[in-house]
Amino acid sequence: MSGRSLVGIDLGTSTVICAVGEEDGRRIRVLGVGESASAGVRKSVITDPDAAQAAIAKALDTAERAAGHEIDSALLCLGGRHLESRPNQAVVSVVSRSGAVGSSDLNRVLEAARDGGCPEGSEVVHLIPRFYSVDSQQGLRDPRGVEGARLAVDAELVMASTAHLETLVGCAHAAGLRVDDVVAQPLASAEGVLRDSELEGAVAVVDVGGGTTDIAVFRRGTIRRIVVLPVGGQNVTNDLATGLHCDQEEAEVIKRRHGHCDPGQVLVEEMVTVVGIAGVGRDEVPRRWLAEIIEPRAREMARLIGEALEGEGVQKVVLTGGCARLRGFPAAVHQILETPVRVAVPEGFSGLADQVGMPEHAVVAGLLRWGQRSTTVRDRSNPKTTRSQGRLNRWLHELF
Ligand SMILES: Nc1ncnc2c1ncn2[C@@H]1O[C@H](COP(=O)(O)OP(=O)(O)OP(=O)(O)O)[C@@H](O)[C@H]1O
Ligand SMILES: [Mg+2]
Repeated sequence: MSGRSLVGIDLGTSTVICAVGEEDGRRIRVLGVGESASAGVRKSVITDPDAAQAAIAKALDTAERAAGHEIDSALLCLGGRHLESRPNQAVVSVVSRSGAVGSSDLNRVLEAARDGGCPEGSEVVHLIPRFYSVDSQQGLRDPRGVEGARLAVDAELVMASTAHLETLVGCAHAAGLRVDDVVAQPLASAEGVLRDSELEGAVAVVDVGGGTTDIAVFRRGTIRRIVVLPVGGQNVTNDLATGLHCDQEEAEVIKRRHGHCDPGQVLVEEMVTVVGIAGVGRDEVPRRWLAEIIEPRAREMARLIGEALEGEGVQKVVLTGGCARLRGFPAAVHQILETPVRVAVPEGFSGLADQVGMPEHAVVAGLLRWGQRSTTVRDRSNPKTTRSQGRLNRWLHELF
């Protein structure tokens, strides 16, 4: 291999995806992707570590075969409702001899911001500085070299349950992997699909997966907050299974092939064959029925997204995750939020780019980018050492 090797693993509620790439100048060449049905994960959180580990091992094996080499370490994403973010400020005295802010002042103020007091059982997984100020000079992206006595930072802390973090890292170790870093799922997804031009406005990246909806809000080039909602495509599948009296598997296939969120868009005469529970009985049902079952759930999910974004002044929604492929869902989000919606897929990869070219690849593509932009990739066997890295706070990781 020529460039640095990059590996990302997205252990989702529905699917485990492992992508292997290598640096190709400023781009990333995709060398291999392995996908397997997920197991032992509910609402993006590991509930059965043995099953999750086996699912990781399967995706890893496929990715290794595709890439033609063994994988011994990877970046992982951490999902679930336990993820939360909150703003924090810190102030320190500038003590550098020159009288201007130096790297050690910067490190001290960031460490002070990190000590924001996590809830019991949680820890900071990312510390993302928004702006610095030195005395009366505010809104600085990089305060180094600015003369003054007082250095302050306005930062966002992303916190996660220590137990969930350790379970994830433990599963990767059990699958024979070292962990380079762990990235909160909403940030990984944003890293995967957000365009630089979109970072300048007020934008929300909304990743609607199988079990959760991950939201990251950005304004003026920096993170505002993250939110995880406990709804996703599996809710739609469950509704269909109940409404059509069929198995989850059958409901999943029907949803993907024939599902629509808007009954008005489906011709009355279109019929769909549904196989009953345990394969017993076959029914012809109007396709419009499916849409009538899906519509209320899709609208409820869109409403929840709208509530989560209330007061954020978001001018655009970048919609991704597998559920973004559900017909009529982007239109429902657009209608309820009254905001432009772009259905986003990862862009700008070379090699087997098409294998990370769908909305459900946002997270794994983001992990590859995160790895590329990280200056130091370390063994993260101790989860307490995570630092925030990646494009979304590129001026932070230059400092370490
Ligand atoms: N073509 C399609 N039409 C409708 N729904 C789809 C389609 N493809 C995938 N989905 C849905 O997308 C969801 C899976 O998305 P994704 O792979 O992003 O989730 P995940 O990452 O495994 O889960 P999570 O992020 O919630 O932990 C499933 O509910 C699946 O039914
Ligand atoms: Mg996901």
